[in-house]
Amino acid sequence: MPRTSVKKKSSTKKRAVARSAKQGKPLKAPESDKPLYIGIDLGTARSVVVASNGQRHWIESYVGYPKDFVARKLLGEGPLFGYEALENRLSLDLSRPLAQGVVHSSTARDEQSVQALIQFLIDLVEPRKGEVLQIAIGVPAAALRSNKLAIREAVAARADKLMVVSEPFAVAYGLGALNNALIIDIGAGTIDFCLMHGTVPTEDDQRSLTTAGDAIDHQLLALLEEKYPKTSFSLEQIREFKEQHGFVRNDGRSVIVEAPVNGRMTAHDITQELMRACRSILPGIIETAADLIARSDPDFQDQVRSNIILAGGGSLIDGIDEAVADGLSEYGPVAVSCVEDPLFCGADGALQLAREMPEEYWQAF
Ligand SMILES: Nc1ncnc2c1ncn2[C@@H]1O[C@H](COP(=O)(O)OP(=O)(O)OP(=O)(O)O)[C@@H](O)[C@H]1O
Ligand SMILES: [Mg+2]
Repeated sequence: MPRTSVKKKSSTKKRAVARSAKQGKPLKAPESDKPLYIGIDLGTARSVVVASNGQRHWIESYVGYPKDFVARKLLGEGPLFGYEALENRLSLDLSRPLAQGVVHSSTARDEQSVQALIQFLIDLVEPRKGEVLQIAIGVPAAALRSNKLAIREAVAARADKLMVVSEPFAVAYGLGALNNALIIDIGAGTIDFCLMHGTVPTEDDQRSLTTAGDAIDHQLLALLEEKYPKTSFSLEQIREFKEQHGFVRNDGRSVIVEAPVNGRMTAHDITQELMRACRSILPGIIETAADLIARSDPDFQDQVRSNIILAGGGSLIDGIDEAVADGLSEYGPVAVSCVEDPLFCGADGALQLAREMPEEYWQAF
């Protein structure tokens, strides 16, 4: 049975980029009569922005407001974003205002945080004064309809034109995978599926699961707390273990990590727990992919199954492409590949959509 599987690891350089968010200079001076096109991938864990002036940035999707007057004296009025917010978390009311990739509640503070986050992302690409801004924002597929309005309100203050698209559609567009392809974007809050068959995808072509990277972290934490009751693990530490060592195939490897027990760094074997937690997202991915493919035109199902593309940070889990391919192989020929740059491909696709989508898809303010 034909099956290809391409795994290309991307170096995300998380800390370095987050600290120097001002990396990248405009490649060319914006022409005053041309709009500045901006592509944004609004994520639960990380938000990414790229623009037609060559700017490219990403931040962790944290927003923090100083807790009291001492915090304000220390940090100013705020809000603080990304890594800077994380670093100063003890002085801040810190939140990830995008839960499952969307505005997760309608409290005034959350809406304010989302608005501030979007405006911070826009500022990162250094638009010129008076420049016309056309912004395409990718959000998780299933949440598109219910959250368009909230995001629109957040953007209206700054943008001249806005387009909100589903995240995996942006990925597909950026990759040129427009026909007979299935994109699976494995994020922190959601896993988003988008079936491409040569037209703009409809809601029927898209699915969203809420068991994604964050759920793996929580499961791994619970498993390790049970196995090592004397060790106290933080969720951040657990996420690091997963990002450094995550894998899904039992190939005899062992994963040993260091964590403090009574103040002394001690080796912990986390092999089985890590594999189990990472594997926990596979049944949902396989079942949903099989279901979406089964609903597509029977004449093209083999082609779609042979063109499955994994995106998002979760696509970096070692062996996940092969495991998804194995899970779907009973249905016929299958080929699964991973995008080369899971961090930027959603925002890059959104930028390409911003440059190329016809006028009727834009909302003007
Ligand atoms: N090397 C890695 N191995 C395993 N998982 C990783 C790796 N790098 C990042 N991740 C995980 O990928 C997830 C973040 O991916 P991504 O940036 O695509 O999510 P997001 O866009 O913020 O979330 P969402 O799309 O759900 O809103 C996190 O759970 C993170 O821990
Ligand atoms: Mg995402």
